[in-house]
Amino acid sequence: MSRPRRAARPRRVTVEACAKLNLGLRVGPRRADGYHEIATFFQSVSLADTLNAAPARRGFSLRIVYEDAALRRAVGQIPGPAGLRRKVARARGPATRWGGRSIGPALERVPAGAGNLVLRAARLVARSTGLERGTRFTLIKRIPTRSGLGGGSADAAAAIVALDRLFALRLGGARRMALAVRLGSDVPFALRGGTALGLGRGERLIPVRLAAPFRALIAVPRWRVSTARAFNQIDLKNLGLTGWASNLRFVQKLTARRLKPDRALGLGNTMERALGARRSDFLSLRARLRAVGIRNPLMTGSGSAVFGLIESRTSFAEVARRFKGDEPLFAVRSLGLGQRVVSR
Ligand code: C5P
Repeated sequence: MSRPRRAARPRRVTVEACAKLNLGLRVGPRRADGYHEIATFFQSVSLADTLNAAPARRGFSLRIVYEDAALRRAVGQIPGPAGLRRKVARARGPATRWGGRSIGPALERVPAGAGNLVLRAARLVARSTGLERGTRFTLIKRIPTRSGLGGGSADAAAAIVALDRLFALRLGGARRMALAVRLGSDVPFALRGGTALGLGRGERLIPVRLAAPFRALIAVPRWRVSTARAFNQIDLKNLGLTGWASNLRFVQKLTARRLKPDRALGLGNTMERALGARRSDFLSLRARLRAVGIRNPLMTGSGSAVFGLIESRTSFAEVARRFKGDEPLFAVRSLGLGQRVVSR
């Protein structure tokens, strides 16, 4: 008699957790639960954090390693996986300099303690499944934090997937999504990845097919935006009510065919009008991106990162060389998935 088969448990799981761009983002009315209706096209891109997870007897621990993945403007190269500048600084370590430039602005520290989204996700998975074993996490952080690129959400989604694999929890898609939405409005998309229309508070996802893959350049200012404050500004200025019904019709129309990213950008980003005193810094960055040939630079999420599409015959290195400003620049391409999982 054969014994029931048990799912193999890997000794270690590695998840590549991709950043996202919002190809257009419209904020609508505030709901009774305090969240806002939104309409956005989420797109996974190739800039990614790496989360390693290994089993421990009890408790969850997290070590963070920062890695600078920005374009090397001085030598005009796009770093490939092997060319990345590794291990720039440890969490809580001293500010490390690279080639005379601080890694500071793009790689601002994230909380390494209990507030980190990896640990919050792990505790949520443990509570909802009764998991008693622990996990040692190592996070290689490359996605600039608090910049609208969805790095924290990507890490949280990666932690759910890593624990599911590591302990053969068999969560299934629906349960993973239910856990994700409790961690943040962008976490469901981080789990799903690819290209999707996001409705509701961002958790209602309708998969969309891109007309063709694309490349984009992202600039990340030193200043940051508080997402909650940006939503409040939108309420104060009544920005969410103007034209909401026609915005919904516009996004529905775009999903009827394969999505052309430049059409989606035509949606604009409501958050660009909620910047207050930072508006002039944003306008300056947008103008400097236009000056190097980027046609329609747009803020992603609630900012502060601004991105634009780069045509296939244009060289990233050349654009980065001509760009006037000290914002770190990132070269990315669109991806059909938000995560890549390797178990050993
Ligand atoms: O869900 P998340 O934690 O990312 O939300 C961060 C903040 O943004 C919260 O304060 C929330 O009220 C606000 N928010 C919102 N409408 C959304 C998403 C977030 O008002 N659709």
